[in-house]
Amino acid sequence: MTQDEQKQAVARAALQYVVDDAIIGVGTGSTANFFIDELAGIRDRIQGAVASSDATAARLRSHGIKVVDLNDVTSLPVYIDGADEITPQGAMIKGGGAALTREKIVTSAADKFVCIADGSKLVQTLGRFPLPVEVIPMAHAIVSRKLAALGGEPTLRLKDGQPLVTDNGCYILDVAGLQIGNPAQFEATVNNIVGVVTVGLFAQRCADVALLGSPDGVKTLVF
Ligand code: A5P
Repeated sequence: MTQDEQKQAVARAALQYVVDDAIIGVGTGSTANFFIDELAGIRDRIQGAVASSDATAARLRSHGIKVVDLNDVTSLPVYIDGADEITPQGAMIKGGGAALTREKIVTSAADKFVCIADGSKLVQTLGRFPLPVEVIPMAHAIVSRKLAALGGEPTLRLKDGQPLVTDNGCYILDVAGLQIGNPAQFEATVNNIVGVVTVGLFAQRCADVALLGSPDGVKTLVF
């Protein structure tokens, strides 16, 4: 299976976690996009979806799926999203698509996080993928220096030669050179840096289920 075929296979497999008559959380990225396209086929079974980015909201609407504001939701049984890296314990790096803050908010509201990813995302130690950190624009230089002091090599994410601006009006630092041995502890450390909005480590609240692509089909990990 190609990487895209694996993404499509896990997206299809995730349909079994969709709860009838509920509002569900939907993530961001190429794997989440495959999921949205699959979800379109059963859209009459759900009331709507909470989106983790403007791009996801637009794609949901393009399929006729109602997008619901998280503030209007009292129950979110499941959130389905991709990851940039995931460990065998379910800790993840997310934010390659710059949607980490809303992804973390929707994660915190959901009863269950179902991670869908091609097999290349499974790693023993997080950090080969540069860790995204969303920051308040006026603080990007000082936060950069503090992340460097923790052993990372931060780079301001650019788009068309200018700092990329997130859906929340913030910037992203991508931190290379890390080997994150204790993800929950490192998440807390980075969260404590003033000027950080969100760190793309999902370890204190990790995945509950991972559906991972492989040449032999979809493998399910339960955490
Ligand atoms: C979006 O901000 C990310 O957290 C994505 O979930 C992550 O980058 C995975 O994206 P792909 O499914 O495109 O690999």
